[in-house]
Amino acid sequence: MSTRTLFLLPGDGIGPEAMAEVVKIIDHMNTDAAAGFVTDTGLVGGSAYDAHGAAISDADMAKAMAADAVLFGAVGGPKWDDVPYEARPEAGLLRLRKDMQLFANLRPAICYPALSAASSLKPELVEGLDILIVRELTGGVYFGEPKEIIDLGNGQKRGIDTQVYDTYEIERIAGVAFELARTRSNRVCSMEKRNVMKSGVLWNQVVTATHKDKYSDVQLDHMLADAGGMQLVRQPKQFDVIVTDNLFGDMLSDVASMLTGSLGMLPSASLGAPDATTGKRKAMYEPVHGSAPDIAGRGIANPIAMIASFAMCLRYSFNMIAEANRLEKAIANVLDQGIRTGDIMAPGARQVGTTEMGDAILAEFKALAA
Ligand code: NAD
Ligand code: IPM
Ligand code: MN
Repeated sequence: MSTRTLFLLPGDGIGPEAMAEVVKIIDHMNTDAAAGFVTDTGLVGGSAYDAHGAAISDADMAKAMAADAVLFGAVGGPKWDDVPYEARPEAGLLRLRKDMQLFANLRPAICYPALSAASSLKPELVEGLDILIVRELTGGVYFGEPKEIIDLGNGQKRGIDTQVYDTYEIERIAGVAFELARTRSNRVCSMEKRNVMKSGVLWNQVVTATHKDKYSDVQLDHMLADAGGMQLVRQPKQFDVIVTDNLFGDMLSDVASMLTGSLGMLPSASLGAPDATTGKRKAMYEPVHGSAPDIAGRGIANPIAMIASFAMCLRYSFNMIAEANRLEKAIANVLDQGIRTGDIMAPGARQVGTTEMGDAILAEFKALAA
């Protein structure tokens, strides 16, 4: 029997709380021996720093590289505010993305029908919303060199971050966006700031050329990223796929999360290129939200972003499309039943904690299989 290896990195704060709900689903799926999930768990973020003095150990990094897929919770928190920059919790996440070459971060923002009133926008603006932000994840200002603070010697310091993009990096993320658009409403909007950034000029040129060469059947629009942010909250349903750089994608996906009701709803998939011989991609699945220090340890975090990230894992790493759809349907049904964590609470709904929400989704997942 073939096995499917999953490396779990729950991390800090609400990360482990949300991951526990996914583990229940994996355990249930393994009652069918054919599922064959084999899990191992490691440390990342502040919890890894406390144990090893680094945000991820080389041993855990090697396990992440070897696994079929990594499930990542969240990292960070005030406890580690003063650790050295290189060892801060977020450095563990950035190392995973960079070393595994996970250049394509898929951040779907879907407004479940039951949640249209939980959004900060009017229900009619978000009902039926289904957009996909394709964020470049291994380049740009996150990784460009130089990246440093230098002492100017006159009592002043200079902080430097560098935005760098090469043609191949833009081409490959544009290709992912166009390919995915073909499976959806066939529209891509590319966002950059070509009016002030050279990398934005190149981004625009390369996306345009890639479109002309291989994807002219897809509708392509361009927007300056600041205007794109405005349009996302003005008329979000105008978008299908948005492709953008690492930093703009980070910010625009947090904006998009509130259209869906809560940051606790947004999953993501971080994918590498398919291997030339096996066709397999390295992959990590991570909610868009962070460790939520303000609610950690209270059992009230919304586990849906983490569970929906596992659904993306079933779809993209294991081609278990029916199971992925069933898990997403289970989430939708539980929301339809009026079961809510505090972040998406509505009048007349039943407020539950993390565990109850996970249990309700698992029960629905089982019921849908019957
Ligand atoms: P955050 O996403 O942790 O929290 C922002 C707000 O959203 C908080 O009020 C929080 O309670 C709420 N929230 C987030 N997820 C939720 C959930 N599942 N259920 C209910 N409410 C939820 O962002 P932050 O407060 O800016 O950052 C906290 C720490 O997390 C920082 O150290 C940051 O660097 C880190 N962070 C990590 C990741 C990651 O690990 N992928 C992502 C973002 C931020
Ligand atoms: C995210 C987070 C990360 C990012 C941080 C924690 C490094 O905000 O995944 O959205 O900026 O990419
Ligand atoms: Mn972010």
